[in-house]
Amino acid sequence: MSKYLVTGGAGYVGSVVAAHLLEAGHQVTVLDDLSTGFREGVPAGAEFVEGRIQETGSVLDGSFDGVLHFAASSQVGESVTDPEKYWRNNVAGSLELVSAMRAAGVRKLVFSSTAATYGEPEAVPIAETARTAPTNTYGATKLAVDHLITSEAVAHGLAAVSLRYFNVAGAYGAYGERHDPESHLIPLVFQAALGQRPHIAVYGDDYPTPDGTCIRDYIHVADLAEAHLLALDAAKPGEHLICNLGNGSGFSVREVIESVKRVTGREIPVQVAGRRAGDPAVLVASAARAHEALGWTPRRPSLDDIVADAWKFTLEKNGR
Ligand SMILES: NC(=O)c1ccc[n+]([C@@H]2O[C@H](COP(=O)([O-])OP(=O)(O)OC[C@H]3O[C@@H](n4cnc5c(N)ncnc54)[C@H](O)[C@@H]3O)[C@@H](O)[C@H]2O)c1
Repeated sequence: MSKYLVTGGAGYVGSVVAAHLLEAGHQVTVLDDLSTGFREGVPAGAEFVEGRIQETGSVLDGSFDGVLHFAASSQVGESVTDPEKYWRNNVAGSLELVSAMRAAGVRKLVFSSTAATYGEPEAVPIAETARTAPTNTYGATKLAVDHLITSEAVAHGLAAVSLRYFNVAGAYGAYGERHDPESHLIPLVFQAALGQRPHIAVYGDDYPTPDGTCIRDYIHVADLAEAHLLALDAAKPGEHLICNLGNGSGFSVREVIESVKRVTGREIPVQVAGRRAGDPAVLVASAARAHEALGWTPRRPSLDDIVADAWKFTLEKNGR
């Protein structure tokens, strides 16, 4: 049994990982300022501290075995219009966290990085050796934190793993996606299915893909959680391992809409709009390194399974 601090554990991914840690018999403390998370998202059995990562020093002591760091601002559009918020929260906040870890002698870190660190890919599937050229401030701040972690591992022996998620989806029992504003495709299609938005917009159907719509790599949040537990075991002092996490095969926007139709049995009004600037045709991860270095294989790769779990959570959340 180990003791972990989970920053952002009231949010979507952090709550699912916290639940997995507890199920594995670990002790969990969640540190979250509830800026985008929910108190009820913190799994029963976890200690909850309402506070900011900027104040990690007041929570962390030598009794902790490691930190899983999910807390961040993560709206791509907002990061472009309010960049200072992103540098302050994501980079300055992570710097405070890393300093507090060193002061407390806590030497293991798993960090939520992102596919957005790569920007427009030169080749797909995207490997960790690909050029990193983020096209928005969100991706740039996450890449900066990855660099911070690398230097901390080299200088001070931190054992660290950055997991670069592609599109996280699905739900794990009572823990699911509740972003506001929502920007992720599957919950947006659900909103159209529930009549909460008039239609789902498809941004471009003339991409060089089989059905003309963009292809993205969707990974079940429970598969993602399992990778975090494996990362805690794989982390080695003085090393910063960076691994992509994706299904390795993408699904197009139209395939996602068709899947939601199959799973929900509802009609989905669709409106085709023009392409959005900076939307690459295909973003798919190579998960080969995660397989080799962590021994990780996604166990729930079916799109219909991912959508079905997310739909169940959404119906419960909507009280239907
Ligand atoms: N959801 C995805 O598809 C996806 C993809 C790639 C990377 N990520 C990364 O994974 C992590 C989790 O994403 P999510 O979708 O669960 O987001 P989320 O917004 O649901 O969760 C983030 C949590 O962090 C908390 N938080 C934010 N700033 C904080 C601060 N300064 N101090 C304390 N708590 C703070 C929020 O209240 C929230 O509970 C983020 O770092 C995100 O960048 C997510």
